[in-house]
Amino acid sequence: MRVHTYERIFLWLGAAMLAAFLATLGYTTVAMGIHLPGPAGTIDPAAVLHTPPFNAPGVRQTGPNAYEVDMVGFAWGFLPAEVRVPHGADITFVATSMDVIHGFDIEGTRINMMLIPGRISRNTYRFEAPGEHLLICHEYCGVGHQTMHAKVIVQ
Ligand code: CUA
Repeated sequence: MRVHTYERIFLWLGAAMLAAFLATLGYTTVAMGIHLPGPAGTIDPAAVLHTPPFNAPGVRQTGPNAYEVDMVGFAWGFLPAEVRVPHGADITFVATSMDVIHGFDIEGTRINMMLIPGRISRNTYRFEAPGEHLLICHEYCGVGHQTMHAKVIVQ
């Protein structure tokens, strides 16, 4: 009889843990906005620098408090190598690669994307305070990988 009692307890414990994990997943996804960035479009990797918006990479205002940062990753750097954005605004990073797969990771933020040739990556973030953030490639992309970086200056 005692064994059955323990089994019942462990079953409820297992169910409770599952419910807790699903609730955590739901909370981080819906309330905190943490999720995988989805594909935001396709592009001809050989014509990146001639295709809008990547023919003029940089920062542009898209709304009263919204900006878009268009960037191109290449072996081994980012175009532009430095961007300036305001704090307290919605900053949408739109990026792609013109050669091989690169990473797009802004330190201290949840912006963490892959730049895949032929695909456009997009993710939005709000910097709450001014400061400097390093943007690095965190996907091995050749002998110059460790030098591939850019700077995001929040004003
Ligand atoms: Cu690009 Cu590593």
